[in-house]
Amino acid sequence: MSSHEIRKRFLDFFAYHAHTILPSAPLIPHADGGDRALTLFNVAGMQPLMPYLLGQAHPDGKRLANSQMCIRTIDIDEVGDNTHATFFEMLGNWSLGDYYKAESIAWSYAFLTDTERGLGLDPARLYVTVFAGNDVVPRDDEAVAIWKQYIPEHRIYFRDEKDNWWTAGPDSPAGPSTEMFYDLTPEGLGDMDAAAFERADEQQHIVEVWNNVFMAYRQEGGIVVAELPHKNVDTGAGLERLTSVVQGVRSIYDTDLFQSLIDHIGLHTDLAQSDAMRRARIIADHTKAACFLIAEGLVPSSQERGYILRRLIRRALAHAYRLGIHNDALDLITLIVEMYSDAYPLLAEQRDTIRHVWDQEKNKFSKTLDKGIHAFEKGERDAFTLFTTYGFPLEMTKELAAEKGEYINEVLFAEKMQAHQDASRQGAAQAFKGGLANTDDPRVIALHTAHHLLLAALQQVLGASVVQKGSNITEERLRIDFAYDQKMTDEQKQTVSELVQQWIHADLPVTSMRMPKTQAEALGAQMEFGQKYPDEVTVYFIGDPDHAISKEFCGGPHVDRTGVLGTFRILKEEASSQGVRRIKAVLA
Ligand code: ALA
Repeated sequence: MSSHEIRKRFLDFFAYHAHTILPSAPLIPHADGGDRALTLFNVAGMQPLMPYLLGQAHPDGKRLANSQMCIRTIDIDEVGDNTHATFFEMLGNWSLGDYYKAESIAWSYAFLTDTERGLGLDPARLYVTVFAGNDVVPRDDEAVAIWKQYIPEHRIYFRDEKDNWWTAGPDSPAGPSTEMFYDLTPEGLGDMDAAAFERADEQQHIVEVWNNVFMAYRQEGGIVVAELPHKNVDTGAGLERLTSVVQGVRSIYDTDLFQSLIDHIGLHTDLAQSDAMRRARIIADHTKAACFLIAEGLVPSSQERGYILRRLIRRALAHAYRLGIHNDALDLITLIVEMYSDAYPLLAEQRDTIRHVWDQEKNKFSKTLDKGIHAFEKGERDAFTLFTTYGFPLEMTKELAAEKGEYINEVLFAEKMQAHQDASRQGAAQAFKGGLANTDDPRVIALHTAHHLLLAALQQVLGASVVQKGSNITEERLRIDFAYDQKMTDEQKQTVSELVQQWIHADLPVTSMRMPKTQAEALGAQMEFGQKYPDEVTVYFIGDPDHAISKEFCGGPHVDRTGVLGTFRILKEEASSQGVRRIKAVLA
């Protein structure tokens, strides 16, 4: 069965059970409420549905399903093994306060095993886990009772929150889950006790194919604080993983979602040479992820999402280079667009843009790649210099060195990178204050403090999803860009201005404290979106630190008390880019 057929069967199956089939949300989240803006890319099928899982009514009803594009870069170094990819599709079905455990389990089982409308997997190879319970939420005996109708009790295992509790972050809907596993061994593992089951999982003799979350709770700061207004079901099955199981192959890279790409690479290099297959997998995965991101309008840059895109493209190119494949030899883009044109028409629509953006980045990188290799050949061994001067990836330097039997000191590289990032952050902080010379201009300092007050006021009025996306301060005015996808009403602008003015009148103290980053995060201090911070940071508080109205990661400087700021006024509120608003404001 092709991956295409699997995706189609999944959607048809849930449409048959009265689910509305939603299109995939974009990979690049828009600031449309909930916690979506907190991740660079969409990382789970449920992420675009966050506000609805929390209780808001969904316009398409209470039963939803789709195939959602996701990108996770957290395991980027694992890409190329059997199971990791940065881009993947997640098949999911949701109940927003409608059906619950009984239907969810019955349908998952039916879809996995039914030969006509499902995947026809062998029920004798299925195992499941359920939540073992903790101080807050009891053991899920209800799920066990339901599962017992389908599979023998001794193939149902209890696992704790490490495996069978799902949440999208510290502040998120959450709940216990039940996971389904499939036996991949040729001879079949048969009945296993709990210890043997855990071993089989570790050795990847079984793989998880579906995760059903019974999302009935709300967490804040990682702690369950309430039950949700209604009980939801949130499920996720990775299409690549499911396809490998159905197609009976050990790796997602051996499925039809990758095979044509790997074969194409194989036309240009000998895949039997050492490490070639891993490189080919990385090239295929990264090129695919890049195609989808460029199709959504992203371009490579040195910041945030654009930096990740750049890294994906450059890693793919560097590995191709190492396989002896130069410049224009590969045409994976055509194959990728073809592979996905039915499921994701945007790729075909943006085909020319994808090619153009890819080629531009490739041309930029090829020049530095040649220069970097030349510098290396001439004796340059500092991975940091190679990285900052030529954009040469660390792993590339390591590989070249290893070939010469040399060793690159990665700790030193990491230290230099850290220092470099600190320096550029300071540079950014300086720029933030409206030009390097002006950090001791009292007008700039006052506007800087007003900037913190404004961000806090925007969050109070528009919601916690407002995060800072950029800022700029001159002697005359401050400017803030923030994630929010609607024009502010006059009333909202008025309320925000009044709040800031009220805090100025209250003559609140401004204080700062050095602390470990983890502590600052636990305090909920605001950070510039997408920025990386060192392990120790400075947090500025406005008001009594225990009840501060503003807490921000910041290098300062600030006024000592807000009373000196005078009169705050918003000059203008306008769109800055998609999902981002811009405010200019002054102090008089
Ligand atoms: N949200 C759950 C997951 O991503 C279903 O695994």
